[in-house]
Amino acid sequence: MTVYLDNSATSNPKPESVYTAIVEYMRGNGASPGRGNYALARDADELVYKTRKAMCGILGAKRPSEIIFTSNATEAVNMALKGYLDAGDRVLVTGYEHNAVWRPLKKLEEERGVKLTLLPSYSNGTADLRTLREMLTGVRLAVVSHGSNVLGCVTPLAEIVSAAREAGVPVLVDAAQTAGAYPINLSEIQADMLAFTGHKGLMGPTGTGGLYLREGLELRTLKEGGTGGMSDSPYPPKDPPDRYEAGTMNIAGIAGLHAAADFILETGVENIRSHEIELMEMLLDGLNSISGVVYYGPRKADERLGLVSFNLAGVSANEAARILDEDYGIMVRAGLHCAPQAHRLMGTERVGAVRASVGYFNSERDIEHLIGALSRITAEAGGGDAS
Ligand SMILES: Cc1ncc(COP(=O)(O)O)c(C=O)c1O
Repeated sequence: MTVYLDNSATSNPKPESVYTAIVEYMRGNGASPGRGNYALARDADELVYKTRKAMCGILGAKRPSEIIFTSNATEAVNMALKGYLDAGDRVLVTGYEHNAVWRPLKKLEEERGVKLTLLPSYSNGTADLRTLREMLTGVRLAVVSHGSNVLGCVTPLAEIVSAAREAGVPVLVDAAQTAGAYPINLSEIQADMLAFTGHKGLMGPTGTGGLYLREGLELRTLKEGGTGGMSDSPYPPKDPPDRYEAGTMNIAGIAGLHAAADFILETGVENIRSHEIELMEMLLDGLNSISGVVYYGPRKADERLGLVSFNLAGVSANEAARILDEDYGIMVRAGLHCAPQAHRLMGTERVGAVRASVGYFNSERDIEHLIGALSRITAEAGGGDAS
């Protein structure tokens, strides 16, 4: 039996319709959208438009033109930060950012003198919002990870966005871990920018993602090139999404993302979330029942994403992941998960942790198999306290 529990890295498997849609586009169309006035090119254009609309449905956005496609969340975050921030700007940022956010911010700190203020958080990831209003003073952009890929905590987005709006500070949300798996409604929580990746909770292929960019907010472009129209101008078009989508897009990927988004809309994000909560309840109960296991982040399954990071007494994270793979066929990820900030909060920056992350296609049997394996591994290691 093999069990895939690395869905926070990338969801696997994908819905059947995703595989079919990619092959159908490749074999049955294969044209470049917005680049020709023949039926196949128009169909490809229509496919991209329908995918923007489906993403609006999942995110609660109003206008397809507010969805800019990128190759992943990392590119979307870079587009937002580097396109928006000017020299000397102050940024308020949550304390458990992924390197997709942290590294571009550190680069901007070095190159543009951007100043970073960390929103204080407790070791389980809960953000301390008591001083939020004061902290927003003089801030040009608030950058908020919607959910941590290590702690599994969910950021109180509604409170942060509403305080930021009151203070006139735009908000960029990193929804890499939440889009598709956790409800997001941009018409209620009016964030200004939101980065998503297509291959995690959205269940699409790698190489897809995007930035929701609120209408009226303009960024400097990160790249310039052909956009299919207005070719006589030496400048990128003014209007989104074309302005930001220079170069031929990953249409095969977008075809897959379209099928994935339709699957999510048909299944319902709430139902996906309920299934993941059930699996997480079982997983947390199992971890609680094994002596020699410590896990991090919120205690309750419904307060966390479908992932948990943990350590075992007497077995390093890397060794545990190796044994799980080689002896039990269980795929999890060990290390710092590209988020040293989160590990710093947990106090595991030197040792890392093992992370198990569930997806819509995992079953209770998968969780039983993991818990059984962890019980045997800790028993063989002699129990004790993990730290
Ligand atoms: C919280 C978070 N942000 C951003 C990213 C970057 O996503 P991608 O690698 O698809 O760009 C990840 C990926 O692990 C993530 O977990």
